Amino acid sequence: MHPHPIQKKNIILGVTGSIAAYKAADLASKLAQSGAIVNVVLTEAAAKFIAPLTFQSVTGEPAYSDADLWGADAHVLHIGLARKADALLIAPATANTLAKLAHGGADDLLSLTALALGTGADTPLLMIAPAMDAGMYTHAATQENVEILKRRGVVFVGPEAGHLASGLVAKGRMSEPADILGQLRYQFSRRGPLLGKHIVVTAGPTQEIIDPVRYLSNRSTGKQGYALAQAALDAGADVTLISGPVHLSPPGGATCVHVRTALEMEKAILSACQTADALIMAAAVADFRPAQAADQKIKKLGGAPALPLSANPDILAAVNQQRATTQKPNVVVGFAAETQSIIANAEDKMRRKGMNFIVANDVSAHDAGFAVETNRVTLLHTAGRKEELPLMSKAEIAAEVIERVITLLNPQENA
Ligand code: PMT
Repeated sequence: MHPHPIQKKNIILGVTGSIAAYKAADLASKLAQSGAIVNVVLTEAAAKFIAPLTFQSVTGEPAYSDADLWGADAHVLHIGLARKADALLIAPATANTLAKLAHGGADDLLSLTALALGTGADTPLLMIAPAMDAGMYTHAATQENVEILKRRGVVFVGPEAGHLASGLVAKGRMSEPADILGQLRYQFSRRGPLLGKHIVVTAGPTQEIIDPVRYLSNRSTGKQGYALAQAALDAGADVTLISGPVHLSPPGGATCVHVRTALEMEKAILSACQTADALIMAAAVADFRPAQAADQKIKKLGGAPALPLSANPDILAAVNQQRATTQKPNVVVGFAAETQSIIANAEDKMRRKGMNFIVANDVSAHDAGFAVETNRVTLLHTAGRKEELPLMSKAEIAAEVIERVITLLNPQENA
């Protein structure tokens, strides 16, 4: 199975003098929890907001400030840091730091380290999450510096719009640590076995409209589908995540299409599948919808109304029909949410819906299926092979499913 793309990576986390520096402690902690080796370099201004000791405590590695510039190893410290780095991530990055990086300034340990990374194809990744007040970010000088750095291959995350320390509500907030981590994970995954492959993943429920305030739906939270999208990204794929309404943030690097109804989901899937190498259908699509969505809220005065239903299209059947002419997607993986005769029902769905394999989950179990963090599934293959997987996290199930997709998409390499 593929390791987490950030695992064992040497990350230099540069922290500069912004109020968002406090969020960098959470980022450092998240990086360390993902298995990275994290060395933090604080500028003098950053060290006024937050102490090196905070970072040392959450990363278990030395954190440096400009005081170390004049220590015994001062003359080689920046070279040593740059040499072992897989990435330099600067979060938060102030306007002053952007200016220094764009123009080669090197008057503190962080800018010295950035310069020592060098330029060219083999240089480590430089990723920047700016944070500053709105006028400073939109200033022509800062924008030109951002453009210079982008041209050099620097990857930017944010800034986001929101409340700024000045009281303004505008673009300038540092992106959330989870989003920065997601983007870094994405950058490190771009060498996996699915590089250049387009995988479409569906997730979550659909909502079928009764009237402007009511709908029919189901208990899907999107957890399994989002985990599949992340696993496909980790393996290097370009991922389109087609999601019903859920409370999850899409994984970094995914193209997310938000839909509500089964009809909207069908349209989005058929469009994305035109270029897809694989489709993984983890969404819990409603089989029925109210025959007529009421324009106004239905009143209870006349008692309970009858609610005639219409059948929703079988999306996988429509995919198969389109596939007959486009030959895309090459691989189709379905899920079966069953409460009885699990294997027989799932096998029947696999054959009827033209899947390469189906993931059957017993959704009546308390620790599997809808909403929980874990799942217990059986993989059923067209040739009759059955793989019963033990109880696992949804991320682990997703990694197992993606392993099978890799094998199906690269048969000669796996022969
Ligand atoms: O989102 P979570 O809370 O993490 O829960 C995960 C899950 C239980 C929703 C997921 O693991 C799962 O089982 N998803 C498929 C649910 C489902 O709709 O199963 P089904 O047996 O009704 O449908 C079989 C297959 O046909 C599915 O791949 C489904 O996406 C597809 N389908 C269903 C209906 C329809 N109209 N068109 C379809 O293409």
